[in-house]
Amino acid sequence: MHLGPVHLETPLLLAPIAGYCDLPFRILCRELGGVGIAYTDLLNSRALLAGVQKSLNLAQTNGMDQPVGMQLYGNSEDPLPEAALWAIDHGARVIDINMGCPVDKVAKKNGGSLLLRDCPSTLRLVDRIIAAVDRHSHGRVPVTAKIRLGWDEGSIVGPSLARDLEKAGIAAVTVHGRTTVQRFSGQANWEAIGEVVAAVDSIPVIGNGDVTEAVHVGELMKVSGCQGVMIGRGALRTPWIFEQARILLETGEVGPEPSFNQKCSMILRHIDLLDRYAELPFGIRSMQQRISRYGKTMGHVKPLKEVVRTAEDFETMRREVRRWMMPHRDQVSSISRGEYELQKAI
Ligand SMILES: Cc1cc2nc3c(=O)[nH]c(=O)nc-3n(C[C@H](O)[C@H](O)[C@H](O)COP(=O)(O)O)c2cc1C
Repeated sequence: MHLGPVHLETPLLLAPIAGYCDLPFRILCRELGGVGIAYTDLLNSRALLAGVQKSLNLAQTNGMDQPVGMQLYGNSEDPLPEAALWAIDHGARVIDINMGCPVDKVAKKNGGSLLLRDCPSTLRLVDRIIAAVDRHSHGRVPVTAKIRLGWDEGSIVGPSLARDLEKAGIAAVTVHGRTTVQRFSGQANWEAIGEVVAAVDSIPVIGNGDVTEAVHVGELMKVSGCQGVMIGRGALRTPWIFEQARILLETGEVGPEPSFNQKCSMILRHIDLLDRYAELPFGIRSMQQRISRYGKTMGHVKPLKEVVRTAEDFETMRREVRRWMMPHRDQVSSISRGEYELQKAI
């Protein structure tokens, strides 16, 4: 799949998830395989240009994190074109405009999903961003948009907006199959994503919403006809979902689930990446919060989750994860209650 001039090895995209899809997590997902491109969390254009440290941390990238898309949010009053140029100069291969965030902090400032409410003004803003990006990158950096179906059921603008965005020069549109007022409730409407696919001429439409297992990738593509699939929350629990889905798209069979020991190695790698790239204490807190998601796929590992969740340093986390790795756990993907009881008894 291509986003304008940028070739993606797979049509599988790691979603921006504020607070989660940071540099360590993006590298982790890429190393596990199958990721075509990953996006930063949404970035505030003014904060980036003012050099606010928190925003600079969110925009952090490196050679192990390519290709990366940087996602910007804001409205016509904000310096979005200038922030896009900053992003290109700091490693972005793709600029994405957030048109779907329902959170008050963003939408109340007329950014995110608010852009769905005044499409003519949004298109004028998009024109300015694309002109600036094209000039600065000599056409090498595409601009993409991430939208929802519309503000509410009564104002579904997804298909018409996507068509207009394509005419304006947007290289691809990602559609989260919910309205803004739905936030994350109910189920993503994959058929409605298909209406956006039908509305555009030739740019790729990327379907998004409720893909929590690799098999859903094929289903979403079939139902909607979308060319690519973006995965968010599903990847937080199973970051190997991209590789499983890549194998599915290539062979028709979902790729294998990692063994229990491989999952432990994955957690150890994530700890190393946090240790290397995250600020303290954010890195520690990040793993404390994530371990219960990882643990959900590992069977009876309550003590492991508890130790990592309450650990105050990375070394304690590493020691506990290593303690659970045993040779025969190369053969299983989770720990049964019986085996756990046996381990306790020893
Ligand atoms: C905690 C959280 C933070 C999110 N942050 C962003 C964001 O920064 N930018 C964005 O475009 N979407 C954001 N999203 C939306 C996701 O990218 C995605 O569209 C949505 O979660 C549906 O996909 P999923 O079911 O695969 O998670 C966020 C979602 C959640 C739950």
